[in-house]
Amino acid sequence: MGRIAYVNGRFAPHGEAVVHIEDRGYQLSDAVYEVWALFGGKLADPEGHFARLERSLGELSIAMPMSRAALTLVLRETVRRNRVREGLLYLQVSRGVARRDHAFPNPPVRPALVITVSAVDRAVSDARAAKGVGVVTTPENRWGRCDIKSVALLPNVLAKQKARAAGAYEAWFVDELGFVTEGASSNAWIVDADGRLRTRDTNANILRGVTRHSLLDVIRGEGLEVEERPFTPAEALAAREAFITGAGSLVLPVVSVDGRPIGERKPGPVATRLRRLYIEQARATAI
Ligand SMILES: Cc1ncc(COP(=O)(O)O)c(C=O)c1O
Repeated sequence: MGRIAYVNGRFAPHGEAVVHIEDRGYQLSDAVYEVWALFGGKLADPEGHFARLERSLGELSIAMPMSRAALTLVLRETVRRNRVREGLLYLQVSRGVARRDHAFPNPPVRPALVITVSAVDRAVSDARAAKGVGVVTTPENRWGRCDIKSVALLPNVLAKQKARAAGAYEAWFVDELGFVTEGASSNAWIVDADGRLRTRDTNANILRGVTRHSLLDVIRGEGLEVEERPFTPAEALAAREAFITGAGSLVLPVVSVDGRPIGERKPGPVATRLRRLYIEQARATAI
């Protein structure tokens, strides 16, 4: 069965689903997005993703395309029509369609809503997690509002391509003080040399990862020590373990930075356990 997309009130076969050429998301990146992991056909971390979507839209003065309750029904129907159990749901809201002009259309136009679903082979992701992944570092060159989940992702695209070209999985942006900000599509963590978990605080210019937030709950529930404080690539190399979090990567062990190994270049016990605990919690609380 083929994939089905939702575009502005209609379901359409993926290959036939289209947006208007003057959609402001297409022309000006005037749009935000969200990505939910799907477990057993259900949306993981629903509250966190809805709250961040509303916040991103609010920061840009774009209206929610419909109520949260109505949107939940549409998201579920899109998942159902795609018959995906394990996967990802992508949602994008743009300011809408208007004659091209940088300033907001006045009067405002209806926001445009696109939803797609893709299947994920959990066996492949679990094998990747069992082996661990490499990251490369790259200078932070993004705008000052990385807290907004905007579709303007060109620096992230180039960073991810740099990683792929180097045979790595993810790129870590490094700010002018030498600290890792976050990954191109994930948040960054270490288990430092003293065994304490560390991830950058969200007062910095990073995305407030929903997986990061849920994992902090898991970590605190386990009574583990965690500090929301930045680290450098050198500290990551000297750490016991490192990992990344995100709706796509879940909790994914990192075993090298710029080609140099962390420890014995193997996933560590903390990241491995946190991956299992996070997935258990996300499965149990998905809607
Ligand atoms: C830049 C960036 N940071 C962090 C994340 C992780 O966020 P989440 O856990 O909400 O998926 C993402 C996810 O796509 C991202 O693009």
